[in-house]
Amino acid sequence: MNVYMDTTESSFIDGEIGKLLYRGYDIHDLAEKSTFEEIVHLVLYGELPNQAQLDETDGYLRANRRIPDEIITVIDAVKSAHPMDVLQTALIGLAAFDDESEDNSREANVRKALRLTAQAPTIVTAHHRIRSGLEPVSPNPDLNHAGNFLYMLFDQFPDDETIALMDVDFILHAEHGVNASSFAARVSASTNSTLHAAVSGAVGTLKGPAHGGAAEEVMKMSMEIGNPENAEEYARNKLNNRERIMGFGHRVYRAEDPRARHLRERSQALGEKRGDPRWFQILTHLSEDVMAPYRDRGIYVNVDFYAGSIYHLLGIPSDLFIPIFALGRVPGWSAQCIEQYQNNILLRPRLHYIGPMDRDYVPIDQR
Ligand code: CMC
Repeated sequence: MNVYMDTTESSFIDGEIGKLLYRGYDIHDLAEKSTFEEIVHLVLYGELPNQAQLDETDGYLRANRRIPDEIITVIDAVKSAHPMDVLQTALIGLAAFDDESEDNSREANVRKALRLTAQAPTIVTAHHRIRSGLEPVSPNPDLNHAGNFLYMLFDQFPDDETIALMDVDFILHAEHGVNASSFAARVSASTNSTLHAAVSGAVGTLKGPAHGGAAEEVMKMSMEIGNPENAEEYARNKLNNRERIMGFGHRVYRAEDPRARHLRERSQALGEKRGDPRWFQILTHLSEDVMAPYRDRGIYVNVDFYAGSIYHLLGIPSDLFIPIFALGRVPGWSAQCIEQYQNNILLRPRLHYIGPMDRDYVPIDQR
């Protein structure tokens, strides 16, 4: 907690003022002006691409979205599990079909990072279709990353506005330093294990409600609240019972999470467009009224607070909210691992032992 464990060039966070840079570029500029494909290039190669480089990265992503039939069989076999468990299982399974899976050179890891980024949405959507009794939808190379995800999920061509919304969401989730899941990935990489192992381990770590699971919990809470007039009483009861309001607080930010702003604006616009402003009103009540006094303690909304309302309005089931976070984060996990491989020491902290010492071994019949 609050310990610098290494150096990084991937992202910078100033938690006191709520500043986030990917490779030196401000998240606000990137969210408004960039695309997820460009961010994948930036995070993995360190520089914004020129047009030819972007075409190459984008083309590689579009060409590598398919997953082997054997992985579809695995997904079918474990389809009753939580989508994050299925994603983790399928990602590590992909190692069996990746000729470079054991190659930890930088070049091979960048290629694998691109392939994993491209394949992960195919896993998540194939699983959702299979568990719903439907055929998986094959990836469509004519659509960008965000558009193809929505297309494979709903078997319908998404409109440009929805694609742009999903694209921003992926951008905002792409990289965030050595958070718990990236740390887990780095620990794997530090043993010189493979990128597939590290990224699938990160998926397991992201799953918890203190990390990626918060968006789902926020939507659950909003549904329990039901309408804006109930928000205050609901939240006060929770806080009086020393429970947490999901979507607030962050280990690093003591100011508002800079990613939240972009989702707040879009949650409001989408709610108005769909004629369902209730979720945004509930969230506004929570952040502007009930939780306002918590700002003095550095507890503000985080990236997960508005995300769930957007996904819900798009018709995405709530247990896919965390996988969406994961789909955006694959490049960041990979970039963190590539840094770890490049300047590696085995990550092996110590624990202070506080148990009993030097006890006599008692045979089982005398215990
Ligand atoms: N609601 C109410 N009180 C809170 C909250 C909250 N959401 N978050 C922290 N606090 C209080 C907490 O009760 C504690 O109070 P006290 O000192 O009186 O016991 C104090 O703030 C410090 O909490 P902490 O858990 O020691 O602080 P932390 O740095 O470990 O917390 C956190 C980080 C994210 C685990 C926590 O804020 C939390 O549980 N938030 C809700 C879950 C959530 O929204 N997670 C998503 C994080 S952003 C996405 C990501 O990057 O993963």
